[in-house]
Amino acid sequence: MSEPVRILFVCLGNICRSPTAHGVFENRIEQLGLAERFQIDSAGTAAYHVGKAPDPRTQAAARRRGYSLEHLRARAVDDEDFSRFDFILAMDDANLRDLRVRCPRGYKGHLGLFLDFAEGQRTREVPDPYYTSGEAGFDEVLDLVEAASEGLLRHVQREQGI
Ligand code: 4NP
Repeated sequence: MSEPVRILFVCLGNICRSPTAHGVFENRIEQLGLAERFQIDSAGTAAYHVGKAPDPRTQAAARRRGYSLEHLRARAVDDEDFSRFDFILAMDDANLRDLRVRCPRGYKGHLGLFLDFAEGQRTREVPDPYYTSGEAGFDEVLDLVEAASEGLLRHVQREQGI
């Protein structure tokens, strides 16, 4: 069998948006029996929350749609990630800028915005829900992440013939 496709989802704190992407994408490939074809991880450009589980509001929103994120723990992006991952997908432009600064010149993978894979979606960035009060911001993250996950999966399936 071919090498697994290695995907890293990145946001600022790794406690809201990127763990959501991590959990949703992992859930989808498990449902489809494709889990062993992928290695999925997530990380933050900042280290404020290293070692923490996803934000309780993120976990609650995910749980309402049947996803469990409780096994995930925050970590910071490290330089080795650029040799480990085929796709490094940022949630917003600030995350992407920070990643570009650290990215080695010879990086052969795909470094870009996650929402570029969301077909028919005009929003380019997953808005940071951390400082929003209600559930709506966390639900919006899930809507965007679910759409981009489907598009990313289709893209990889086409590219890899799986
Ligand atoms: P995330 O959200 O980048 O989606 O995990 C945030 C989490 C924490 C902070 C900012 C954004 N913070 O400033 O602590």
